[in-house]
Order: sequence, then structure tokens, then C-alpha cells
Amino acid sequence: MHVILVTGGAGFIGSNFVLNWLANQQEPVVVLDKLTYAGNPDNLAHYQNDPRLQLVVGDIGDRALVEGLLSQHQPRAVLNFAAESHVDRSIHGPADFIETNIVSTFSLLESVRGYWQNLAEPARQAFRFLHVSTDEVYGSLSDTAPAFTEQHRYEPNSPYSASKAASDHLVRAWHHTYGLPVLTTNCSNNYGPYHFPEKLIPLMILNALNGKALPVYGDGKNVRDWLYVVDHCRAIERVLAAGQVGETYNVGGCNEKTNLEVVHTLCDILDELQPRADGASYREQIRFVQDRPGHDRRYAIDASKIIEQLGWTPQESFETGIRKTVEWYLSHPEWVEKVQSGAYREWLGKQYAE
Ligand code: NAD
Ligand code: DAU
Repeated sequence: MHVILVTGGAGFIGSNFVLNWLANQQEPVVVLDKLTYAGNPDNLAHYQNDPRLQLVVGDIGDRALVEGLLSQHQPRAVLNFAAESHVDRSIHGPADFIETNIVSTFSLLESVRGYWQNLAEPARQAFRFLHVSTDEVYGSLSDTAPAFTEQHRYEPNSPYSASKAASDHLVRAWHHTYGLPVLTTNCSNNYGPYHFPEKLIPLMILNALNGKALPVYGDGKNVRDWLYVVDHCRAIERVLAAGQVGETYNVGGCNEKTNLEVVHTLCDILDELQPRADGASYREQIRFVQDRPGHDRRYAIDASKIIEQLGWTPQESFETGIRKTVEWYLSHPEWVEKVQSGAYREWLGKQYAE
């Protein structure tokens, strides 16, 4: 039986990937996750007693640990979701982003290269290293510019996106120089279950329900291209199964929305599903706050390559996905309560002090 190693598999997208994988395949998964503030073993609780899932707590930059895991489990693929992922945190403190997204990714690549080079055929030929990256490496688009293709030049603007761009370059170089069989995906903004409530959509849902302000940065007209997380996970599975070694694939939902449109939609769904006691709309809680420094204006993904070459298409529309997401947060109060720890409150205090 083959095995895959998933790094960062207790985070938002990684855990959705693992849950989706185990629901649809027999192949076991070893998750390696440092369990930072963003990593949560509860996300994987559904499979905690399933022998196909093993969660190992540790750092992708720990050579001895990673090499031990590779040698013990002999995975046919390593999927790298592990990263520091929040732009605002990268502005307050870039060091962790440089450390994990660049230095530890380098270390992971070296561990994987050593393992792969010693594999016997046909395992060596079949092995894949899949690196999960972001559309933010391409920088910011004007309102009328065409969406990002895989050929768009790298123009990262935040410490987060610069660190992800650097990791993409390392992955590319390990393929070109050493022949490591890599695949890279660059995806737009995800949303869905298990999304940590520092990011726009879960933050707005929970702030609304808690009677707090809904802090919209700047004029609220920045545009993001939203993709339901399970559609992203399906795209990654497809790239792993059929992607061309050395290629990158853009993944996006064709759902460009301004932040204000997203917040209005969330308020309207909450007004319907859990109306405020005073009968007013949650829209009343919207507040325009100071903008994010260096805030990218617009992201949009041209996903033609993965659609045409690999036959992937998103199954969820923004309207169905966003409703499912609100319903998920309303029906998982225990998960919500547990993630809103002291450390989380500290972050809110620091970021939204004004
Ligand atoms: P997340 O912050 O929710 O999860 C990251 C996970 O990585 C956490 O479980 C954390 O504990 C783990 N981790 C962090 N540092 C680690 C280390 N040194 N060793 C091992 N584990 C470590 O992030 P996410 O939103 O799930 O994003 C996953 C990946 O997808 C990231 O690489 C991110 O750049 C990329 N991405 C995210 C989005 C999005 O909209 N969220 C979109 C495109 C790409
Ligand atoms: O594009 C993919 C990227 O999407 C991923 O690589 C990142 O890991 C992920 O965090 C996300 O980055 P964004 O910066 O786009 O996501 P965030 O949810 O932080 O913000 C979305 C938009 O909403 C952005 O324009 C900033 C704005 N915003 C965000 C927060 C947290 C607000 O207006 N108010 C807020 O309180």
C-alpha cells in the first residue's frame, strides 16, 4: 500500500485536503504539522482512530525528524501545505515567515531530495513533491488587467508573498538542478470549514455573531478571487495524479468579489439564518478601518491550464459555498470556542486596537 506525507495537514487547507482524501481513498496519510497557533488537531478529529491517519507533531525544518519519517513510511509523494499564511501577521513580524516559508522549505527540499535520490525504480520515477503556493506571488492587478496566468512575472508585495515566492523559486531550482520531480500549484483565496478566524470570512462571521465591529480595510474595494476549499483540494489531487513534472498550475474559482461584497453577503446570510435580537441587519456592524500597509488591490486567477489540461473544474459556486461556510460555523460552536483562545484574543487586540 502506498502512503502520502502531508505537511501542514492540521491547518485550514491541509486538514480539508486530508479529510477529503480519507473520505475518498484507501491510501494512508502521514501528517507532519508543527501545530502553530494555526494548526489544530481537532480539524482531523473525525479520523483520529482511523489507522490510515497518523499525525506527527514536528517542524518541516527538522532534518532528522523528516528523514526518519521518509525512511520509515516510504511515501510515494510529499505534499507541502506547511507555511505561515497570514499577511497581516507577516507585516507585524516577518521573521517566522522567512524561517518557515523559506529556510524550513529549503530544509524539507533537501530531506526529500536525499530520500528520492536513494529510491529504487520504479518508485523513484513515480515520486512527486507537490508544493502548495499562492496567487499572491504574482503581485497586484489593476481593475482591468487580465487575470494571472502561469506566465505572469513574480512581483510579491508583502513579507508573506515574498516568502512564498522564494519557496516557489527553491522548488523550481530543485527540479531544474537536481531533477526532483516537483509540481507547484498557485491558488487564489480559499474559504470554507476550519478556516482560522484571523482571515476575512471567518473573522466577519464570528465578529458579527459576537456583536463586534466588522473591520473593513480601506475603502473595501480590494478584490479577491474566492474558491471553496474542497475545490482547491480536488485540484491538488488532480495535479498530483496527472500534472506534468516541473509544471505550475494556477487554481482559482472565477469568483472575483470586492471585500465589501463579501461582507454584505455574509451579513445577509446571517440576517436570514440567525437574525440579530434587535431585528437590525448585521450590516450595521460594518466599520471602515485603517488600510493594510501595501494592500494588494486585486487578485484574479486564469485557471485555463488546469481546466484544459487536467480536466479540473470547481464544483461550488460562490453563492452555494459561502452559504455552506456560514452554516458550518453556526453548527460548530465547540470548534469555534476552542480556537478563540487567549493567544487568538491577543492577536485581535494587537491588530484591531483602534
Ligand atoms: P494555515 O495557516 O491555516 O495552516 C498552516 C499549517 O502549517 C498549520 O497547521 C501550521 O501548524 C503548519 N505549520 C506552520 N509552520 C510549520 C512548520 N515549520 N512545520 C510544520 N508545520 C508547520 O494555512 P492555510 O490557509 O491552510 O494554507 C496552507 C498552504 O496553502 C500555505 O502554504 C499557503 O501559503 C497556501 N495557500 C493558502 C491560501 C488561502 O486562501 N488560505 C490560498 C492559496 C495558497
Ligand atoms: O490569495 C491567496 C491568499 O489569500 C493566501 O495565500 C493567504 O494565505 C490567505 O491568507 C489569503 O490572503 P489575503 O490577504 O487575501 O486574505 P485575508 O483573509 O487576510 O484578507 C482578504 C481581504 O480582506 C484582503 O483584501 C484584506 C481584507 N481584510 C482582511 C481582514 C482580516 C479586511 O478588510 N479586514 C480584515 O479584518
